Amino acid sequence: MIYNFLNNYKFKGEVEFEIVKSRPNIIYLIKNNNEFYIVKFYSQYTKIFNEVSILQLLNFKNVQSIEIIRNNKDKYITPITGGEKMYGVIYEFLYEQEGKQFNSNKNAKNLLNKYMCFKEVLNTHYNFLNTESIVHYNKEILIERPLTKIKGFKNIAKFTSRLKEIEGKFSSKTSSENIPTQIIHGDLHRGNILFSKDITFIDFEDIGWGSPLLDISSLLIEGDKRSSEYENSIIKESIQYFGSKSVEQDLFYYKAINYLVTLSRGDVLISDTLITKYLTLIEDCLLKGGL
Ligand SMILES: Nc1ncnc2c1ncn2[C@@H]1O[C@H](COP(=O)(O)OP(=O)(O)O)[C@@H](O)[C@H]1O
Ligand SMILES: [Mg+2]
Repeated sequence: MIYNFLNNYKFKGEVEFEIVKSRPNIIYLIKNNNEFYIVKFYSQYTKIFNEVSILQLLNFKNVQSIEIIRNNKDKYITPITGGEKMYGVIYEFLYEQEGKQFNSNKNAKNLLNKYMCFKEVLNTHYNFLNTESIVHYNKEILIERPLTKIKGFKNIAKFTSRLKEIEGKFSSKTSSENIPTQIIHGDLHRGNILFSKDITFIDFEDIGWGSPLLDISSLLIEGDKRSSEYENSIIKESIQYFGSKSVEQDLFYYKAINYLVTLSRGDVLISDTLITKYLTLIEDCLLKGGL
C-alpha cells in the first residue's frame, strides 16, 4: 500500500519508512535523501479535507504550521488504490520536543497566545471547511457518551450523578454566555502540539463547534508532573483573554471532562486501577474548581 502511494510522489532515490503509529490513523515516518516526512493515511475524506484546508489557511495567514507535500498531480490529498477506501497526505516532519516544554511559565504564555491566534484565524475563515461534518461538543457528546462507554465499572455511578449535578449548575452560570460556541481544535493534547522553531498545532481531525475552554483545559492535562506555575499561568492568561473570573471554574470543569473523555477512549485498555486513577483526577479538578 505504502509503495503504491509513494509512486504518486516525485521522490528520487531510496525511500525508507517505518510505521510510527497505527491507530486510529496509520502514520509513517519516511526518509528520503536525509529529508524526513510524515505520511498520514485516513479513511474519512471529510476529515482529511478539513485538516489539509486548515493547514493551507494557517500557512496563508502566516501562522506557523506544517507544509504539505504535493503529489504528481499537484494535489495535497492522494487516494490510495486497492483495498478499502483510504487517502494519504505527506507532511513536512518537525521534531517534537520533550514533555518538559509543557512545564514552563513562558511556554504557558506562548501556548495561549498561539492558541488565541489559531482560534481567531479559524473562526474568521471557517467557510473553507466542510462544516457539515463538524462535531458539536455539547453536553450529550462530552458527558453522556463517555459515561455510557464506561458504565460497567464499579464506582462510576457516584461520578455520573456528581457530574450531572455539576453540569446542571454549570450550564446556568457558565461563562459560555460570554464565550460563544466557536470552531475549536477538539483534541489539543500534548501529542498534537509540536515545539520546533515555534509552537505548532497539528491533527485537526476533531475540530468542532464548542467552547475554546475545552481546548485550553486540555493544555492543563498532566503527563509529566506539571508545575503549578505553569497551570496558574494558563489560568491567569485565560482570565485576561476572556475577561471573566468564572473562567477558572469553567477550566477545571472542562479539565474534568477531558479526563472523562480520555478514560472512555475505545483504544485504551481500561482496567479498574486506571478507572480509579482517573476518577480521582476528575474529583480533584472539580474540587479545585470549587465545583
Ligand atoms: N509533521 C509532523 N512532524 C513531526 N511529528 C509529527 C508530525 N505529524 C505527526 N507527527 C507525530 O505523529 C503523531 C500522530 O500524528 P497525528 O497527526 O496527531 O495523528 P493521529 O490522528 O493519529 O493522532 C503525532 O502525535 C506526532 O508525534
Ligand atoms: Mg494526534
